[in-house]
Amino acid sequence: MCGIVGIIGKEHAEEVILKGLERLEYRGYDSAGLFVANAETAHLVKAQGRIRNLEEKITPSTTGTMGIGHTRWATHGKPSEANAHPHTSASQRLVLVHNGVIENFEALHQEYLSEDHFIGQTDTEIVVHLVEKMMASGTTVKEAFKKTLGLIRGSYAFALVDRKDPETIYVAKNKSPLLIGLGDGFNVLCSDALAMLDQTDRFVELEDGEMVTVRADHITIEDIAGNEITRAPYQATFDASDIEKGTYPYYMLKEIDEQPAVMRRIVEHYTTDGQIVMDSQLIKELAGSDRIYIVACGTSSHAGWAAKKFIETLAEIPVEVHLSSEFGYDMPLLSKKPFFIYLTQSGETADSRQVLVKTNQLGFPSLTITNVAGSTLSREADYTLLLHAGPEIAVASTKAYTAQIAVLALLAKKVGEYQANPIALELDIAHELGLIASGMETVINEKALIQELAADYLTDTRNAFYIGRSNDYYVSLEAALKLKEISYIQAEGFAAGELKHGTIALIEEDTPVIGIITEEITGSHTRGNLKEVESRGAKTLTIVSEELAKETDQIILPTVHPLLTSLISVIPTQLIAYYATLQRGFDVDKPRNLAKSVTVE
Ligand code: F6R
Repeated sequence: MCGIVGIIGKEHAEEVILKGLERLEYRGYDSAGLFVANAETAHLVKAQGRIRNLEEKITPSTTGTMGIGHTRWATHGKPSEANAHPHTSASQRLVLVHNGVIENFEALHQEYLSEDHFIGQTDTEIVVHLVEKMMASGTTVKEAFKKTLGLIRGSYAFALVDRKDPETIYVAKNKSPLLIGLGDGFNVLCSDALAMLDQTDRFVELEDGEMVTVRADHITIEDIAGNEITRAPYQATFDASDIEKGTYPYYMLKEIDEQPAVMRRIVEHYTTDGQIVMDSQLIKELAGSDRIYIVACGTSSHAGWAAKKFIETLAEIPVEVHLSSEFGYDMPLLSKKPFFIYLTQSGETADSRQVLVKTNQLGFPSLTITNVAGSTLSREADYTLLLHAGPEIAVASTKAYTAQIAVLALLAKKVGEYQANPIALELDIAHELGLIASGMETVINEKALIQELAADYLTDTRNAFYIGRSNDYYVSLEAALKLKEISYIQAEGFAAGELKHGTIALIEEDTPVIGIITEEITGSHTRGNLKEVESRGAKTLTIVSEELAKETDQIILPTVHPLLTSLISVIPTQLIAYYATLQRGFDVDKPRNLAKSVTVE
């Protein structure tokens, strides 16, 4: 949610900033802006809309040896040039970019700044005015910034520049992600290492409450009390080519296509000589728990649902799946020995983090399964398992969903082996994931058929339904989310048997209803439900496992292990969403109103 970049100590800082912002555009794309300066000149440029609008405003004179940039996902104040960052202080001397939400900005406004004039409606503008106010008594920028940090409540990643000292960028972080990258004779800052990978692969993580003074040749990290902190950088494990689109028109298609390789990579990472290798203490703690609570949002929560049945079957531990945004404030009565699993592609989702903070306070063990090493939820949980899916850039999550299920499958098998559960001992999950990788390729090769079906069923419709039972129902939830978030079709994932209890009233002539059938027992019932909607005018489409398929079914899935069917059945639904969106003429990778990493509650 919002992206920040900055650089100091390099010619043409504007080029580095623009490239970094393009790479962070998945974090927000309502508006963007940059500030660049050197000893003689300074330029502040902002634009509403995409980064390309900002680029169009950059002239050859908009250059500098240092600068900061921002791409926005609006929280306070509508998307507009006035609300775009960077924001400036009353005298224009201070320039600030911010990711996060300042909860007490109205109170600060009233108490300290009631006389000030503001250009926009953002909480950030209040902060930069406040820093300048704190300088009134001759305090240095750094001290004034510190004082301001002491007054504000909320989440933030800030980068602050004083026009009178373009040799320094002041940075502070609380709850919102921010990294410092170390270069040779220059330094950078960014919300996500992806943004600056072509500048450096050495990054320093920051802890909440820390403030950093960044200069070209040197960084100084201080904690809240002003103590200097030394922290070694880590090396980013992916390189700049991982985040290029290559010949693909959209990241989403690239990421759908990458899924077979991700399955194989996960097996490679977590097995040695056919044995699953995972932290033995993690396995022991999980096996000793009496209930697993999976906490997640959106697509990640759907991955949790897809995993529930196989975890219960293999590890023999009851599983509850909860939405983070509900769980934190409406915690159910917990079991005696709970174990928490946080599923989060980004590792930065604020809704999930607030639950982790609470379960940490309660002293419960936790595991974060994430795609981002060193992310906040990874650092704050007891254990981490990485997805090894490679950067996911399209806003609509695809490969992270299947990677989460695959990692959970290996984990469930390992816990089941520890419990000596015969079903777990017998199942060769690594082999099954290999078969799934090949099965995914078979489905992906059916793109032409799926594109045709998407055009036929979804080009003009206002709404659509996915239905299924058991695992097919959980995939229906994910399939519907994918379709609605990028194609803007009002799509619902429904338990097939539940339709007739009310929702069937929405079925009209030609309403698309897509049935997912991968299980024999429930499949015949779902077919019955499809007949019910057909007789009320619905236009039905079926996604069916090979061994259950009839001549009239349209999308046929290779047969895979019955516990893991979600990994295959979700693939055509991702492609349906992709092609329906293209057909309807929308931007697949950057759907309206959304951002990739949701760092506000
Ligand atoms: C949908 C999507 C979102 C995320 C959700 C959680 O395609 O990507 O629903 O799954 O915002 O994000 P993470 O997994 O980063 O916690």
